[in-house]
Amino acid sequence: MSEKTKEVNPRGRDGKKIVLSGIRATGNLHLGNYYGALSKFVRMQDDYDCRYFVADLHALTTHPDPKMLHENVKQILAEYLAAGLDPDKNTIYVQSDVPEISEMYLLMNMHVGIGELMRTASFKDKARKALGITSGKPAGEEGSVEDENDDEGIEKQIIGNQTNQRVNAGLLTYPTLMAVDILIHHADFVPVGKDQEQHLELTRRFARRFNSFYKTDYFGEPVNFNFGGHAVKVPGLDGSGKMGKSEGNCIYLIDDEKTLRKKVMRAVTDEGPKTPNQEVSEPIKNLFTLMELVSTPDTLEHFKNAYADCSIRYGDLKKQLAEDILKTTLPIRDRILDIRDNDEYLSRVVRQGQERAREAAAKTLREVREIMGIKHF
Ligand code: TRP
Repeated sequence: MSEKTKEVNPRGRDGKKIVLSGIRATGNLHLGNYYGALSKFVRMQDDYDCRYFVADLHALTTHPDPKMLHENVKQILAEYLAAGLDPDKNTIYVQSDVPEISEMYLLMNMHVGIGELMRTASFKDKARKALGITSGKPAGEEGSVEDENDDEGIEKQIIGNQTNQRVNAGLLTYPTLMAVDILIHHADFVPVGKDQEQHLELTRRFARRFNSFYKTDYFGEPVNFNFGGHAVKVPGLDGSGKMGKSEGNCIYLIDDEKTLRKKVMRAVTDEGPKTPNQEVSEPIKNLFTLMELVSTPDTLEHFKNAYADCSIRYGDLKKQLAEDILKTTLPIRDRILDIRDNDEYLSRVVRQGQERAREAAAKTLREVREIMGIKHF
């Protein structure tokens, strides 16, 4: 039996199951990151052996900016800590501080097909953006990775691209690196938002492939973790789609009170309900979804009822929504500002995390090299 199917993970601290997750260092965290990932990280820290990292190598696939990279890493670290992650309970580290990940990424790539990487929704999305192609469905709205008929010719466009734009190979092999992030820790659970589920599916597929190629049950199959519900999709303020940095519809944890209120008051709505129990349009549904995350059930019900009997005033709805978002974000914002400039504290945290992460990663890498037949003289 593979160790992943047992109740405990012998590799975890005190036999606890292992949780692994990370966030790319590309800027400030928004409410989507908070509800999709960070708040789950915090809730898991007492019951599991949790390892949370800042994905700076992944950030290089789209944001290779030497002036900003380190600042962005610091920002995410400060946001982790400000949201309530305890650096003694959790292993908090920076991806590039663990060179074993990069080596295992090279090894794992030998078992990954370029076709399956090219069919990944996030790759097609980012490749389109890199080449300035605007058509095509956004990531997360496409089918599973098994669905091979949805590529709309993007592969041909990348290969036949005549312009100076380039789709880098790092972007293509993004899922390999992510799979290694996870597998190098033998993680059981990977708390991530809905948009990352295809990457998790690939991780399991690479794990199975490695096992079957080398006739072993070495890797288990990690799964998402959602506290009983579905993966959260946090909508943006622009009336459609999810909250996303590139969409410009975000509320950031670091937003000050004035900025945040202004953003919420400007959120897209509609003309208002004309007949009782009228169907709710997408922009309003999105505001209700946000409210479901930050407000009390009573508040939400109050506004839903007001919508149903056509007495709703969107101005009131937005005011209340802004108020309730601020209750969550303002205390976090204060702590971020405190921690962000405390270099000494941050470096103590990541040094401790690096040490723990490397210990686990080095063990896995040693075993993987052995399974693959790489031997020292
Ligand atoms: N791809 C993830 C994102 O964009 C970040 C990430 C990289 C990650 N490696 C990971 C998440 C490993 C979970 C586990 O959000």
